[in-house]
Amino acid sequence: MSGYIDLHSHWIPGIDDGAPDVAEALAMLRGLGRIGFSKVVATPHMRTGLFDNERADLERAFGEIVAELRRYPELPEVALSSEHHLDDVVFANLVKGEGLPYEPARTAALIEFPTDHFPARYRERLFDLRMRRVRPVIAHPERYRPVWKDITVMDPLLDGGAVLLLDVCALVGKYGRAPRKAALELLEGGYYYAACSDAHRATDVREVEKAIAELYAVMGDEEAEFLLAEGPRNILEGRVAG
Ligand SMILES: [Fe+2]
Repeated sequence: MSGYIDLHSHWIPGIDDGAPDVAEALAMLRGLGRIGFSKVVATPHMRTGLFDNERADLERAFGEIVAELRRYPELPEVALSSEHHLDDVVFANLVKGEGLPYEPARTAALIEFPTDHFPARYRERLFDLRMRRVRPVIAHPERYRPVWKDITVMDPLLDGGAVLLLDVCALVGKYGRAPRKAALELLEGGYYYAACSDAHRATDVREVEKAIAELYAVMGDEEAEFLLAEGPRNILEGRVAG
């Protein structure tokens, strides 16, 4: 196996609630590399009112840190995408082609919902993206309150071509009991296509390591490796079926 691929992390310094500086970014990448990630995609937030990042801001910040990373060839490979909050402004930008879908295929994009309720017209919006050949990759569905009540609320999204991305740390209780229970139910139901770290700090890596061990314990080697390696690779390369 050539290593895990992390589709969701916040290591670009000073651009959102992730790494505050270059030293922290390096420590995060080093830590994620140590526990088996050979590629780590940065997904800084695009979220109206909270992280008003536009594509050019994120590309500039990524370019700066990549220049720095050339001094550390032992670190995992990196790439840039974004965690797109499904609000009016970010959705409009995605539709206009001003988002940051996953490279190289650019046929899937990471989408985040508010945690308490699903946003207005979310089904239509996700369907609209799918029609534009951008497959929605739903970030941490286990953290969404409507999912705690009934995981089948995700069924129409899966039917519409979305895929679900587990934040592995939910499995070790990082977000509390309800997300942990929902994550286990979604795993058992075969809902997830991939798993990620959603790391924000170097200190998160220890928890990610424990959570990966838990993922292997719950799902077995073959399925855990799919969620951490093959599933993410298929998303990046546009090879998800359906
Ligand atoms: Fe995130």
